[in-house]
Amino acid sequence: MKKKILFAASECVPFIKTGGLADVVGSLPKYFDKEKYDCRVILPKYMCMDEKWKSQLEYVDHFYMDLSWRNQYVGIFKLDYEGVTFYFVDNEYYFNGPTPYSDIRYDLEKFAFFSRAVLSILPIIDFRPDVIHCHDWQTGLIPVYLKDSFSQGDFFRGIKSIMTIHNLKFQGVWDVKTVQDIAGLSDYYFTSDKLKDYDDGNLLKGGIVYADVVTTVSDTYAEEIKTAFYGEGLDGLLNARSNDLLGIVNGLDYNEYDPMNDPLIYKNFDVKTFRKDKKANKVALQKELGLKVDASKMMIGMVGRLTDQKGLDLVACVLEEMCQDEVQFVVLGTGEERYENMFRHFDWKYADDFSANIYYSNELSHKIYAACDAFLMPSLFEPCGLSQLMSLRYGTLPIVRETGGLKDTVEPYNEYEETGTGFSFINYNAHEMMNTVRYAEHIFYDKKRSWNYMAARAMKQDFSWNASAKKYEQLYDRLIG
Ligand code: GLC
Repeated sequence: MKKKILFAASECVPFIKTGGLADVVGSLPKYFDKEKYDCRVILPKYMCMDEKWKSQLEYVDHFYMDLSWRNQYVGIFKLDYEGVTFYFVDNEYYFNGPTPYSDIRYDLEKFAFFSRAVLSILPIIDFRPDVIHCHDWQTGLIPVYLKDSFSQGDFFRGIKSIMTIHNLKFQGVWDVKTVQDIAGLSDYYFTSDKLKDYDDGNLLKGGIVYADVVTTVSDTYAEEIKTAFYGEGLDGLLNARSNDLLGIVNGLDYNEYDPMNDPLIYKNFDVKTFRKDKKANKVALQKELGLKVDASKMMIGMVGRLTDQKGLDLVACVLEEMCQDEVQFVVLGTGEERYENMFRHFDWKYADDFSANIYYSNELSHKIYAACDAFLMPSLFEPCGLSQLMSLRYGTLPIVRETGGLKDTVEPYNEYEETGTGFSFINYNAHEMMNTVRYAEHIFYDKKRSWNYMAARAMKQDFSWNASAKKYEQLYDRLIG
């Protein structure tokens, strides 16, 4: 008999994405051994999903569900896509916004509804998972409900749950009274060893307390979150649960991110041809973005959410100085307004060598990974990070801060032994970052052979899902027994 796994999450590629969570939820299920595991995924049916997907969903059933004192419609839709079954929870009151998330008070109710609906749907679709694999705070109530109102009766008894933390910064927190009212849970749950966190109710905390196992997306982050600096107030709890806490590093969908077969980039290349063909990508990107065309100038990319997490205050501190160097910068992403405006300013001031693209585009991101020589990611914290994996795959050398998944996936260059796949620094300090960027510039311009060897080593690394999917399989096996 196949083992049944259900992923519950708030976003998933290709249907809806705001961050790396969507990449993981969208790719990992494809990499489980189909002979042994039947892994399905359940998501909200957001109105803001692309019409292309919405029009393909097939209606399954609907019913009404109690959520605290509310009684709400739950529709179930379904789509089989690339060998995986996806379910979508429909409720236009909750999922009608222009983006998946809005203000947190409203989101809390939305995802409490989603979490309860996930469990309520299971008998109706006749799918009894052995394990429900929950992702981030939006699904934190699932392990709680599983032990509470769904613990009676044969159907739910024995279902295990896993809580995977993709980012501890976001926990789903509001005052106890509101959370209690929304979730419909008794006073019993609102003590400091359960969902209560000072005067607040905390959904992720509920997930961490009640899940059978807690995982996060790299080994280093699994250690870091047990400390006060990275623990976001939950380090005590995570220490208490350290026997059930483990890190499994994310993989990348190597079919989608494949420089040899990527239809989105200007010229395909592999480890044999990258020396010449990455330059062709660079020149084409320079033309497309209106930068000065110069195949030999070092190009540094930055792609992602423009937030503090990504170390942008360090960048802000020394960007003016770095712009005096022989480098071009290409930025892609949206986020905090001050960073958006900062990059727009540099784009205006250094038009020939700075390109700020303040929006999100999957296509442009692929072009950047293919065209750049280096990729800057000086994160304050980074649970795993996927951009550096994409960069490595495209022979673009990451310049990173040694934290979380960045530390686990980028090996710093050692010029004496000619080892390493990128550049890194330890302290959260702008000048330490700038010195590292300048060291990379030096290797790029003065030791081109070493640079190219390093790019070849980077491209040969294996961060596909193969190894990590096996680790999740082992975890499921252990839980199911
Ligand atoms: C979050 C984290 C990122 C991680 C991703 C997927 O976006 O910030 O580090 O790679 O989740 O797990």
